[in-house]
Amino acid sequence: MDIKAVPGAIQSSSADAIIVNLFEGAQPGGATGAVDQALNGAITEIIESGDFAGKSGEIAVLYPRGAIPARRVVLVGLGAQATFNADQVRRASAYAIQRARDLKVSRVASILHGTGAGGLAVETAAQAMTEGSLLSLYQYRGQKSEPAPEAFPKTLELMIFNEEDIPAAERGIHDGMAVAAGVRLARDLVNLPPNICTPAYLGETASELGKTSGLRVEVLEKSQIEALKMGALLAVAQGSETPPRFIVLEHNPERSSEGRTIVLIGKGVTFDTGGYSIKTADGMSTMKGDMAGAAAVIGAMGAIAGLQLPVHVVGLVPAADNMISGRAYRPQEVITASNGITIEVISTDAEGRLLLADALVFAAKYKPSAVVDIATLTGAAFTALGGLAAGMFSTDTKLQDALLAAGDSTTERVWPMPLYPEYRKPLESLTADIKNSTEKPGGVGTSATFLKQFVTFPAWAHLDMAGMGFDGKDNPYVPGKGATGYGVRLLTEFVRRWATSPPPAPSEAETPASEENPSTASSQSE
Ligand code: BES
Ligand code: MN
Ligand code: ZN
Repeated sequence: MDIKAVPGAIQSSSADAIIVNLFEGAQPGGATGAVDQALNGAITEIIESGDFAGKSGEIAVLYPRGAIPARRVVLVGLGAQATFNADQVRRASAYAIQRARDLKVSRVASILHGTGAGGLAVETAAQAMTEGSLLSLYQYRGQKSEPAPEAFPKTLELMIFNEEDIPAAERGIHDGMAVAAGVRLARDLVNLPPNICTPAYLGETASELGKTSGLRVEVLEKSQIEALKMGALLAVAQGSETPPRFIVLEHNPERSSEGRTIVLIGKGVTFDTGGYSIKTADGMSTMKGDMAGAAAVIGAMGAIAGLQLPVHVVGLVPAADNMISGRAYRPQEVITASNGITIEVISTDAEGRLLLADALVFAAKYKPSAVVDIATLTGAAFTALGGLAAGMFSTDTKLQDALLAAGDSTTERVWPMPLYPEYRKPLESLTADIKNSTEKPGGVGTSATFLKQFVTFPAWAHLDMAGMGFDGKDNPYVPGKGATGYGVRLLTEFVRRWATSPPPAPSEAETPASEENPSTASSQSE
């Protein structure tokens, strides 16, 4: 669907359907009021009859019968004005455009939701409308043989009453399209079956993205990963016929000297059988989505490039299959990560943290001001939060606050969890520096604490997004079945915030070397 800003009044549009709105309990005002007048009070009547209250999710279709050039009027509820925000705009846009799609309408025109009484800036409203509309029309066709049905609508015109608002509306549309493209890419990657979406496929997708977006992309193959001594990533990968990849995507590399570099790391396990610590059939049934963190990072990097955010951002994706074979790694093996830390494998199913460990070590070379990893890491996080938020562990309150704020404004929620020092003890090993997993209780805290042993930079956050990758909840622009694309909007919004309000320079913010972590302390002063 094509989206454009068009100058003019909504009541003079000759589109197949025009979209107007109403706050809960309000009378039609502004553009909606103008349409109501042109329709001789038809909107007022549907309110007074009690058939429409303006609640979020409410939709009515009216037929003007020649009173205005448009064939249909779609009236959408914005919900309560007191709790109104950009997310209500995304939702209202989604409900309205889905109705237009169901009516097989070709050309739709809409007023900007929320710029009048709602108090939103034109750019914000246009971006939210673009995101909500495009994301709610997402459809995954996969490998279905039947050709896709014709797509409706073809165009969405955002009607801009004041001509001087056109540039702001166009900026909003542009940014919304960049974000939606990133989310779409992430959804596609998570929906793809594991025989197609392999580590090599993730690498090719990242390279393609590099060509279209201007990102600098490097895809390291097995020999290069060996040269970097990423023994933890390699141990996970060695059981599979499908070789690993380590993907590096870089936005604005020329700004790397500014000291504000952000590194995003996404877990890219393209299928998790559990390895020899094998999962049940049921437990394995959604594990093509164990690369949802990788998809979020790749999608976010695309969006960040599209938004031209003024900061150096590096996306890292360690990618591997976790399989069983004569070459697969086993419990009780001791493996060595790229910083020399030795790890006793307790469970081959705790593979995500092994990939992330080598990626965290790699991240340090950028001297980042913030590192955020995102991973479908533990069933415990899913159990704890029920798929309503990702668990967030952070060593820095500013970073935590920025992620919380980004989660609020995108409704891709994160929720803080503790990094208690007591979580370290159960990870003590007789044969190595650390174990890769522990007994059941505390599984989410010990996983984060394991990762922390590989962190040598001041501001780090780990997002455990287990349960967030599939089946959105009660959100018209997130599919209720299939991939959500969770994390793309969250990470993009976080980077936008971090880029526009820079944290203190890394040298001032640097924390002393962690006592628990002597073997990595030296790299902190590099
Ligand atoms: N990919 C899984 C976590 C997961 C579970 C994600 C369910 C989404 C839904 C991860 O690799 C895993 O297997 N974690 C284990 C860790 C345990 C062995 C310490 C788990 O959560 O059981
Ligand atoms: Mn696993
Ligand atoms: Zn996994």
